Amino acid sequence: MINEYVEIANYYDNLLTSGYFDFNFLSNTLYNLLGARRKVLDIGIGTGLLTEKMLSLANYKIVGVDFSPRMLEIAKKRLANLDVKLICEDITEFETEEKFEAIVSTGGVICVVEEDGEYRIYSHITDPEKNKQLLAKLHSQLDEGGLLALGIQGTHTNYKKEIKDRIFYEQKIKKEGNYVDKWYVFSQANGEIKSEQFCRFYFFDGQQTTQALIDAGFKQGYQIIDGKFLALPPRTPALYR
Ligand SMILES: C[S@@+](CC[C@H](N)C(=O)[O-])C[C@H]1O[C@@H](n2cnc3c(N)ncnc32)[C@H](O)[C@@H]1O
Repeated sequence: MINEYVEIANYYDNLLTSGYFDFNFLSNTLYNLLGARRKVLDIGIGTGLLTEKMLSLANYKIVGVDFSPRMLEIAKKRLANLDVKLICEDITEFETEEKFEAIVSTGGVICVVEEDGEYRIYSHITDPEKNKQLLAKLHSQLDEGGLLALGIQGTHTNYKKEIKDRIFYEQKIKKEGNYVDKWYVFSQANGEIKSEQFCRFYFFDGQQTTQALIDAGFKQGYQIIDGKFLALPPRTPALYR
């Protein structure tokens, strides 16, 4: 299914830990950014790579939502002895009475791409209206002083490289309007394809990103933290506390 990381789940960790993301840096940046905040919702938690690192830094109470059973199976194993709540659900349908002190995403359901000199929300949800509804819902799930922290990535480009165990990773990108299609392909040296996945993203340009966040209820003016997170200021105190 489109955007559901089932087919490539077996290769996902090898790709991500071979330089795709630096989870030590990301977790340390989040640790500083979140300050005393402990109740965290991770939207698109995947295999739990970020969560594992975060829990080595502080006793966060993390709820992770992801609609890929296969990714969550791996997360469950990784986080077996840790106090994490994993929920297999589409984030657009996830409802809770709980309020969170932070909502985070590293390449999860929504993230931010720095492109053409601006910060753009990229989303696995391909309907712009649904994204706006999701942002408004996330806003309502944050408590006062809560923080939305969206991981920032570089522009999607075409490339191929060897990762672990003689497996090659290739990504192919096609852009059309506000849509970006991305193929993830894992193959052997002889070219035999082991696994592949197609993803379609919808993105808001810089101006649309700012407007979508304001319309969702967030205060105007986000902050860029260490070039790695776009953080929406809490409604009250300073970001670092
Ligand atoms: C690129 S992975 C990132 C995983 C993780 N955040 C990380 O840092 O490794 C994107 C994840 O978002 C999940 N996802 C995409 N759309 C979703 C949706 N509508 N609801 C819940 N999860 C979703 C996918 O299943 C996948 O696990």
